Amino acid sequence: MTRHFLRDDDLTPAEQKTVLELGLALREDRFARRPLEGPRAVAFITDKPTLRTQVSFAAGIAELGGFPLVVDGNLAKIGVRESIADTTRVLDRQVSAIAWRTFGQDRIEEMAAVSRVPVINALTDDFHPCQILADLLTVAQHRGLDALPGTTFAYVGDAANNMGNSYLLGCVTAGMHVRIAGPEGYLPDAAVVARAHEIAGETGGSVTVTTSAEEAVAGADVVATDTWVSMGDEAEAEERAKPFWDYQLGADLLAGAAEGALVLHCLPAYRGKEITASVIDGPQSVVWDEAENRLHAQKALLTWLLGQG
Ligand code: NVA
Repeated sequence: MTRHFLRDDDLTPAEQKTVLELGLALREDRFARRPLEGPRAVAFITDKPTLRTQVSFAAGIAELGGFPLVVDGNLAKIGVRESIADTTRVLDRQVSAIAWRTFGQDRIEEMAAVSRVPVINALTDDFHPCQILADLLTVAQHRGLDALPGTTFAYVGDAANNMGNSYLLGCVTAGMHVRIAGPEGYLPDAAVVARAHEIAGETGGSVTVTTSAEEAVAGADVVATDTWVSMGDEAEAEERAKPFWDYQLGADLLAGAAEGALVLHCLPAYRGKEITASVIDGPQSVVWDEAENRLHAQKALLTWLLGQG
């Protein structure tokens, strides 16, 4: 059966651990695995702006021995020029996997329903699961893989966006205590929260959703934030400028976390908005490791999805 990675809970806790183990191994020895030798092509399609995701997929596919086929979604116009299903039926005869950055989660689900090769969510409006694998890998790099279960993880800011949803599902899958804080109106989808509780019941993790940034961060081992204006939200930039100020990740808020807590940000970062320069450029920030780990995590994921983990 073809496996896809459309949301964080598409990997069971054991599968996620296997992928993270492989990611750590690939961090140590980048060229240890060549599952795409041939080279086999993997398509990376993007309907939204991208830097880290495109570069890490392209470099990673090349390092796995494959050929990265980068497709500009604005030229391909998937779903406009040709239906998603027909596009997929063409692609899956020519490439070994498809990574797609797009808008609605329904679009990538439609692709996966037809595709005979693995489909990977390279960010949708609703989830960004590859980023969470990289974030978990970063915590594992600094604290050890066995430290993930039981780690307290806090996310503050726009909790209704793709990162909020993905942190909820991905971090409870790793057995973490996940605390999510955002203003009223910017809290995660109820169905995602319910699913996160269900997973937490299996893994020993827990879920807290609150409007208090201080409550979320108190004693946390890892603290993360993200832009207040995600791709696609630009028209709301002005109305979004206000409700988030109490959630800015600055030195005062971070002081409430555990000593030496790690700071994550998926980037791009807006210094002086969701995070202060002193925090993102400070000693607790591991955001450059996090950006590098996109490469290792996605290589591990691709290797595993292609059945060669
Ligand atoms: N929430 C952000 C993540 C960027 C990597 C966005 O969707 O724009």
